[in-house]
Amino acid sequence: MTVESHYQQKIIEVFKKADQGHLFKYYETLSAKEQQVLVNQLSTIEDPMKLVKTVSEAIKFSLANSSSGSFTQLPDEQTASTIGLAKDVYNRWSELGYKAIANGEVAILLMAGGQGTRLGSDDPKGCFDIHLPSQKSLFQIQAEKILKIANLTREKFNLDFVPEIVWYIMTSGPTRTSTEAFFKQHNFFGLNKSQIKFFDQGKLPCFDINGEKILLHSKNAICEAPDGNGGLYKSLQNNGILEDMISKGIKHIHMYCVDNSLVKVADPVFLGFAIDKNFDLATKVVRKRDANESVGLIVLNKDTNRPCVIEYSEISKELAEKKDPQDSNKLFLRAANIVNHYYSVDLLARMIPKWISSQEYLPFHIAKKKIPCINLKTDESHKPVEPNGIKLEQFIFDVFPSVELEKFGCLEVDRSDEFSPLKNADGAKNDTPTTCKSDYLARGTNWVKENGGLLENEDDLVEISPLTSYGGEGLEFVKGKTFKNGDVI
Ligand code: UD1
Repeated sequence: MTVESHYQQKIIEVFKKADQGHLFKYYETLSAKEQQVLVNQLSTIEDPMKLVKTVSEAIKFSLANSSSGSFTQLPDEQTASTIGLAKDVYNRWSELGYKAIANGEVAILLMAGGQGTRLGSDDPKGCFDIHLPSQKSLFQIQAEKILKIANLTREKFNLDFVPEIVWYIMTSGPTRTSTEAFFKQHNFFGLNKSQIKFFDQGKLPCFDINGEKILLHSKNAICEAPDGNGGLYKSLQNNGILEDMISKGIKHIHMYCVDNSLVKVADPVFLGFAIDKNFDLATKVVRKRDANESVGLIVLNKDTNRPCVIEYSEISKELAEKKDPQDSNKLFLRAANIVNHYYSVDLLARMIPKWISSQEYLPFHIAKKKIPCINLKTDESHKPVEPNGIKLEQFIFDVFPSVELEKFGCLEVDRSDEFSPLKNADGAKNDTPTTCKSDYLARGTNWVKENGGLLENEDDLVEISPLTSYGGEGLEFVKGKTFKNGDVI
């Protein structure tokens, strides 16, 4: 036996021991090259026996209602709201944030590895055109926010250079190539190529609906999927991103998710809030729209006195609908997670090795999905119409309870200013291309009105380019001018 085939046999044995012998049903019919491809893919799974056990534990965990702990609102000391915030506090935070940007201490981290299945599009979500008059994609809007905030920083401190804010972009197997190609095709939207760093998150095998057998995608490949946004931490470490941040002297990270059309990338106020209060981790929230909205909730676990998130897929109906005893018009738990997190690089450097070493910090959650695979009974490819399998996912916020309460902050912001996510295809009630477009235009139109601009017709909506205004500033020039529906300013 050659060394090569000895190695292949060893891998096959390990998988057979883990009760995954079905993966080799077609092995003898494959060419030597195809056999090698399968074995290479399998060899990336360190310990198949452990993985199978993990899946059955994840299923048990998901069945035992994980939101059955005792949860309450975060204490006042950890929270603040930009709604009605005193001007001097707002200005102090803003100043601190801008200073950090000017000093080169801020980087942006984007999670763009999700597949957008609910949206029904094969393209990465960031490439999506929400049909603004300018036809800008979500990526372009975000890139222009970065350009603008860098220019505002230069103007504010009279710098003779524009600070280059590094934009780390996490993609996954399914989104990497098309994301990078999109950026190239658009000339990096005016940013320097050197300030953008793409890196990939990890992947995990998909299982059948009982969580017992790994699914075969073809005769010589298994089904795999991205490991969830909690895979971020491992990929920051494995791709040398954390090291890169440290070597560049970056101290503060604004992390956000790709699908929010109103996101304030590198928001100085949010950065300043965390810096001022010396938080290690902070998160932005909006008030939950209603008990059924698909958002996680930032809460305090009373049993451990630690912050945590209860995900929408795991909350009980009773807890989701519970009213606030102080004000029955409000939900008791209403701090909706909009996946805008602040991390100190110190925290990441200290904790990532721990977080990725044990499932205690990042357990697997299961998602039942329709996964195209080979039907082992008919030997044919099968495109299911009902969920037939399980994808394993880690959640980014599962590490929150490892942060001491005093080091965790939560900033409430105005939904109409900062949150309109693209989740569903048109036709759904909320979070569609149409709602993103109308929220985006409504925000810009309000800025025009606030600055004394006029509209030809009362219902006209105008678009403000992020290159013109980051958050409503610098629009004095519209005073007394008249705009009409579809204008881009
Ligand atoms: C997420 C949050 C939820 C929050 C909601 C707000 C998590 C686990 N859930 O839910 O608490 O209220 O957004 O909009 O964070 N992603 C990857 N790789 C993956 C999976 C996702 O990079 O493997 C990225 C997506 O590209 C996206 C972000 O993570 O930028 C959020 O993912 P998505 O699956 O859309 O989360 P939701 O279920 O909407």
